[in-house]
Amino acid sequence: MKLLLSLLSALLPFAAPAQPAATDMVKDWENPAVLGINKLPYHATLQLPSRWKDCHEIVSLDGQWKFRWSKDPASRPVGFEAEDYDVSRWDDITVPGNWQLQGFGRPIYVNMQYPFHRARPSVTGEPDKSWYAYDHRNPVGSYVTFVDLTKEQVARHLVLHFGGVHSAFYLWVNGQKVGYSQNSMSPAEFDVTPYVREGRNRVAVEVYRWSDGSYLECQDMWRLSGIFREVQLWVRPQVHIADYRVHAEPAADYSRADVTAVIAVSNAGRRSGNLKAVLKIDGKTVEERVGWLDGGDTVRVNLACVLDRPRLWSAEKPHLYPFSVELQDKQGRVIEHFDYHLGVRRIECVGEVFKVNGKNVKLRGVNRHDHHPVTGRWVDDQTYEQDLRLMKQANINFLRTSHYPDREYLYELCDRWGIYVMDEANQESHGYGYANHEMGEDPAWRDAHVDRAVSLVERDKNHPSVIMWSLGNEGGVGPNMKAMHDAVVALDSTRIPFCDTDRSQSAIYDDGYLSPNRLRDGARKVTDRPFMMREYAHAMGNSVGNLQEYWDIIYADSSICGVAIWDWVDQGLSDKLKEKGNGSFLYGGDFGDQPNDGPFCINGLVGPDRVPHPHYYEVQHVYQPLTFVRDADGQIRIINRDQFTAPDEYDITRDTVTVDGECLLNVAARLKADQPWAPKGFAVARDQFVLQPYTFRQTLDGVPAKVQKTAAGLVVYTDRGTVTVSNDGTLTFGYLSSGAAAAKLEPYFWKPENDNQHAAHFAERLAVWRDAMDKRTYKSFSTENGADGLRIVNVTTLPVGAELELTYTIAKDGRIKVDMDYRPTTGTDIPLIPKLGMRMRLPADMTGIEYYGRGPWENYPDRKRSALIGRYTMPLSEYETDYIHPQDNSCRTDVRWFKIGNNETTLRIDGLQPLCIRAWDYGEEDLEPAKHPCEIQRGRFVNLNIDLNVHGVGGIDTWGQRTLPQYTIDGNKPYHYGFILSWQ
Ligand code: GAL
Ligand code: MG
Repeated sequence: MKLLLSLLSALLPFAAPAQPAATDMVKDWENPAVLGINKLPYHATLQLPSRWKDCHEIVSLDGQWKFRWSKDPASRPVGFEAEDYDVSRWDDITVPGNWQLQGFGRPIYVNMQYPFHRARPSVTGEPDKSWYAYDHRNPVGSYVTFVDLTKEQVARHLVLHFGGVHSAFYLWVNGQKVGYSQNSMSPAEFDVTPYVREGRNRVAVEVYRWSDGSYLECQDMWRLSGIFREVQLWVRPQVHIADYRVHAEPAADYSRADVTAVIAVSNAGRRSGNLKAVLKIDGKTVEERVGWLDGGDTVRVNLACVLDRPRLWSAEKPHLYPFSVELQDKQGRVIEHFDYHLGVRRIECVGEVFKVNGKNVKLRGVNRHDHHPVTGRWVDDQTYEQDLRLMKQANINFLRTSHYPDREYLYELCDRWGIYVMDEANQESHGYGYANHEMGEDPAWRDAHVDRAVSLVERDKNHPSVIMWSLGNEGGVGPNMKAMHDAVVALDSTRIPFCDTDRSQSAIYDDGYLSPNRLRDGARKVTDRPFMMREYAHAMGNSVGNLQEYWDIIYADSSICGVAIWDWVDQGLSDKLKEKGNGSFLYGGDFGDQPNDGPFCINGLVGPDRVPHPHYYEVQHVYQPLTFVRDADGQIRIINRDQFTAPDEYDITRDTVTVDGECLLNVAARLKADQPWAPKGFAVARDQFVLQPYTFRQTLDGVPAKVQKTAAGLVVYTDRGTVTVSNDGTLTFGYLSSGAAAAKLEPYFWKPENDNQHAAHFAERLAVWRDAMDKRTYKSFSTENGADGLRIVNVTTLPVGAELELTYTIAKDGRIKVDMDYRPTTGTDIPLIPKLGMRMRLPADMTGIEYYGRGPWENYPDRKRSALIGRYTMPLSEYETDYIHPQDNSCRTDVRWFKIGNNETTLRIDGLQPLCIRAWDYGEEDLEPAKHPCEIQRGRFVNLNIDLNVHGVGGIDTWGQRTLPQYTIDGNKPYHYGFILSWQ
């Protein structure tokens, strides 16, 4: 009954009200009461997107269109829709696409604010003079294309379909006005049958960059415009399937599933013959008479059947039942046929536990914007496949389509490959503030809100992957949210309604960006429903620390249903979009866009080109479904976080590796068969155990080198050449071909910020450390012949209230043992130490690296679980990570030894304990001012930081939260560390 009602309401002309004609006074695009004119009702995706290319009903209008860009409505080519208006000299534009990325106007990246003067519903008020919108008071794109139709085609029912147009548009066919639409991320469809003719037809579209709809589209993203999704002409029979919904309800014990189909059939022509609706599924064919239909009529036909012992759908086992719906005439001739698929599954909140098919599934999630570095808001099928392949490989099982519906194909892939989806309505009014009352309560904006919920549910209701309907992001609070919620629940009660801003309208209690402890406490406090963080672990720049800390809490509390990382892909744009590219990805401000929020859009696990960042691998590891534990007796135990997969469905491999006496056991769970997203043998889980630990060397065992005192310090003579130690403890190698300036070893405590640290005022809070070594004062200096080498002890006082003792033990053969002792001397308020250790500058050509430690990818103390200990070889360029917004990078932790060299010589560093090593072909001073990697001055030397410890990257947010204390270096404690240098 509910289903029938829902389709009924869907077919009411709700989204296409007969609106009063636009007057010059009130423009449709500045009027929240006009959501569309002459639009067809929203409906389900009729044909699986992967079959669109073969669907004979679809004529694609994608390609080159004629285009004219105007900086404001006043300068637009009025009347261009006329058949005799000559557009031959207009520009060409690719549809689908965003005009700003094809040379027209500017992309603008802003986070929370409206990029135009805020005065709803107007978008043309006067903003600050510095804003792009000041001189561009709502740019307009005028588009023209032509489509040739045959006599047979024009005799049919013709629907023009726009997959997405930003933000509002008018449509004319052959000079006649057809309609208007906003709500940019959902399809807009028009019945163009009355306007077409045999032969050439002229389609004209006028797109406005901003509209009253933009007040609900204030998402943190590039603000782009145009016809950015597919345009199709559907050539359909007069009597046709207008909509359908097929749902399978599993029995309580899952022994059977009741399939119900509601098929809406419409007649756009004259009185129809006697027809029947047919559902084919799992070898069964069910049919039902449609009966006679008068022109303009719509009927809904109910069909039902049973699936015995159904195979259930879940993200782990995405079992699908392909089905087809057909319209047939009396003789059984097929009038219309669509293919789709169905998943049998139950999604529910039972008390405070979220369940899939009766099991407490954990949602290991990520947020994703529909973004492509070249085509912007148009993301092609291959990129969708690449994204989902990488997500599946990272053990991500939950995707929030932040913050609007994506293209249909994405959902098909999620159905097929197995990803739970929170499908989000295109509703964000952040420019009025988070959980604002302005938009949440204003009755004039009620329908505009509801339209976005209805369009979401109606289009995607047949996707098994969709488990939650989100009312939007960072919008209002109040009756308009309630209206959205009620509309969603009335249309579909089989998924979970979710709202971040108005908790009274959400079946799940959500909070964002909590620290691990606050997550634990928050989830304990809330007892009436499941708890989730729709966004957490802000992945901006070098980040995603403390991820395991979150998951220890999540796994320990059955009421936490899941969390989703912000976010999947860096929203960087290709520099090729600019006349003079600089080889970097572009972010806010790079197009001269005003206002802008700089690099705040660069928060992905993967780059704009989908190359994974180091923290992608940490997610892959922490999200892995299996964890291996080694018991005291040496037995390996498996903890299985999957609900529908047994560990023996994987190949478990064990490899023992011995490096320099250390014996490591690497265990992995591998795919037994090829999957669409990874080949057989792919490791979905990996862990490592140390069977026999590494023995760190402690002594040099050398013969003391000869030393001579000079005014500036000491000169030491070794078989390799001279080494000098100055009074402040700096050690210089005199025997490198490239000169002494490039071979210097000194204590160094500064570390450039990463984005998280910048937001947490790291540079200010820890400022004393920036030049602590330059300001150190001489205390004492001594030499003696030690048992294993010449011992030079240098003591200096650091301005922070600490003493630093450096001991160099130098052997005649040139090897040097370095010991550092850090001792706080006064007070207890020494700030955290950014990094504790030494810095060395080497000749620029020493760029070949081999090391034994964690890798191969970058890892930091709070983000190192995915990086297994091993012996890795790579060039310096690979050792570095070039973040789009330059920042600290390249650390490897738990390094036992490290070699760096050129063709002639290699420097080897042996830790006396595990080391953290960062290496760059530039200095801290080059990195800190750079806004893009191409601006970093490189190649003068190799910069090596050899440390006991480094301040962790942080992993909560990028607006103030600090690195967890256990991953910082307390300046009020003493430390000792050391390493041995040898030249080979
Ligand atoms: C969230 C918001 C996202 C994004 C993120 C910061 O609160 O929902 O759209 O702005 O903050 O990157
Ligand atoms: Mg926002």
